[in-house]
Amino acid sequence: MNEVLRAIRERRSVRSFKTDPVEPEKIEAILEAGRWAPSGKNTQPWRFVVVESQEKREQLGRLVTQMDMIRTAPVTIAVLLDTKAGYDRIKDVQAIGACAQNMLLAAHSLGLGACWIGRVRDEQVERVLGTKEHEELMMLIPIGYPAESPAPKERKPLSELVRRI
Ligand SMILES: Cc1cc2nc3c(=O)[nH]c(=O)nc-3n(C[C@H](O)[C@H](O)[C@H](O)COP(=O)(O)O)c2cc1C
Repeated sequence: MNEVLRAIRERRSVRSFKTDPVEPEKIEAILEAGRWAPSGKNTQPWRFVVVESQEKREQLGRLVTQMDMIRTAPVTIAVLLDTKAGYDRIKDVQAIGACAQNMLLAAHSLGLGACWIGRVRDEQVERVLGTKEHEELMMLIPIGYPAESPAPKERKPLSELVRRI
């Protein structure tokens, strides 16, 4: 199995983080991976807010309490859809999904843990993030050094998923 296939296979959602800071160059590499995702007509409708300050992490953590991930992760990347940049709602949202997966895989490849938190168009969260009028929150991705190594979750076998014609 090559490195890409292994990363796809071995990435897990990590929900518990060490307090160790994440090196800025690793965050940069994760953002780069997001930037290189495919998008319809190459519109690149993603925008990122990197949440690092103690103050913002706590404010966000009070709104998104799930497993205390946001408050405890040293960094959270909020992925926004810029509706002015996009051209087709479904395709724009699909592109954002590709962008998020790139970032999760990049984090994993750098020895970091991350989790996709499905928080979409939450006005209170958007206010804390300072999103613009034409931007919509698509997901939050807390990132840090993993304090757990979750077992793989089951996947349906291909025999249930694939039809050949
Ligand atoms: C659209 C989407 C929304 C998700 N929302 C959450 C969430 O709100 N909280 C959470 O803990 N995990 C969330 N996850 C992570 C999934 O629970 C996880 O990917 C799935 O259980 C498979 O586990 P794995 O990522 O470790 O393979 C989300 C994943 C996706 C793709």
